[in-house]
Amino acid sequence: MAEKPLLEVRNLQTHFRTPDGVNRAVDGLSFHVNAGETVAIVGESGCGKSVTAMSILRLIPEPPGKIAGEILFQGKDLAKLSEPQMRAIRGNEVSMIFQEPMTSLNPVLTVGRQIGETVRLHQGLGRQQAEAKAVEMLRLVGIPAPERRVKEYPHQLSGGMRQRVMIAMALACNPQLLIADEPTTALDVTIQAQILDLMRDLKHRVGAAIVLITHDLGVVAEVAERVIVMYAGRKVEEARVEDLFANPKHPYTQGLLGAVPKLGSSLDGTTERLAEIPGLVPSLKKRIDGCVFAGRCPKVTELCRAVAPALEPKAPAHTAACHYAEKELLAA
Ligand SMILES: Nc1ncnc2c1ncn2[C@@H]1O[C@H](COP(=O)(O)OP(=O)(O)OP(=O)(O)O)[C@@H](O)[C@H]1O
Ligand SMILES: [Mg+2]
Repeated sequence: MAEKPLLEVRNLQTHFRTPDGVNRAVDGLSFHVNAGETVAIVGESGCGKSVTAMSILRLIPEPPGKIAGEILFQGKDLAKLSEPQMRAIRGNEVSMIFQEPMTSLNPVLTVGRQIGETVRLHQGLGRQQAEAKAVEMLRLVGIPAPERRVKEYPHQLSGGMRQRVMIAMALACNPQLLIADEPTTALDVTIQAQILDLMRDLKHRVGAAIVLITHDLGVVAEVAERVIVMYAGRKVEEARVEDLFANPKHPYTQGLLGAVPKLGSSLDGTTERLAEIPGLVPSLKKRIDGCVFAGRCPKVTELCRAVAPALEPKAPAHTAACHYAEKELLAA
């Protein structure tokens, strides 16, 4: 049996109280991440990916939010820690990269100060050591002339450079877990590719485990080892990346894969529309008795509408929540 996972999320429920009912943004989600592993979380807009990330770091505003379940990081349950205890973990052992770097960088501090503050706070380095560390980190993420760039402000950098600064900041304290929420969506296609190359390269050099949140299956194929497919706040399928692409079991995943644009289609000018999955995500404010995907599933039957399918193994290291997903021979 493998060693204990670095992160183990058990039955996470993150609900929001709203004027017209409780929004079950994440509803009974369980997954794990091993040390050094890259796990992708995919799914359409609104399926609970960001709420999952924010829940792990306890960045959900409570109220209106409420988190239940266990978030075991190195055996410690983050759901039970006090805010000061969480502050010691955020940006240190666990750090996060957000979609839009401009909103997470402080416009009035130089990039050197921002990276420096993080290492001073968590590692107790002096001012000069902190500045040297900032230069080293900028160099690590491929920013040219880092000695000059540390003295600049975020607005003086391009979007791609700012995202590199965010990554530098996130990695400054050698986190064991990096959560990247749509780290490339705000960037244009060429820069996206550069940032992905950088993340892949850093994964090997830094060794941090990565939870990569994206709705871009092309990104998943390039970076992740394992994939979790979310739908309406739940996990509907999980598999190794090659198995998921070769043999998706859940009709939702099959739909998502059908919606992948052809490789290079956005580069040669003949952009194709994504093949959308017909129908809408169900309201998260209503209890659903049967399968959450029943309303949109091309293979739906009465059984699906009445009984929620359990998440169960369909092939080795491959689970899905569908009554009709075929089971392969499960080798012991
Ligand atoms: N602070 C909040 N108050 C109330 N509801 C919220 C709050 N934050 C998120 N939600 C709800 O939680 C659900 C999941 O949102 P989430 O941001 O996790 O989606 P997502 O999968 O990250 O989507 P996207 O791909 O668009 O980023 C949505 O219904 C959203 O409206
Ligand atoms: Mg999101």
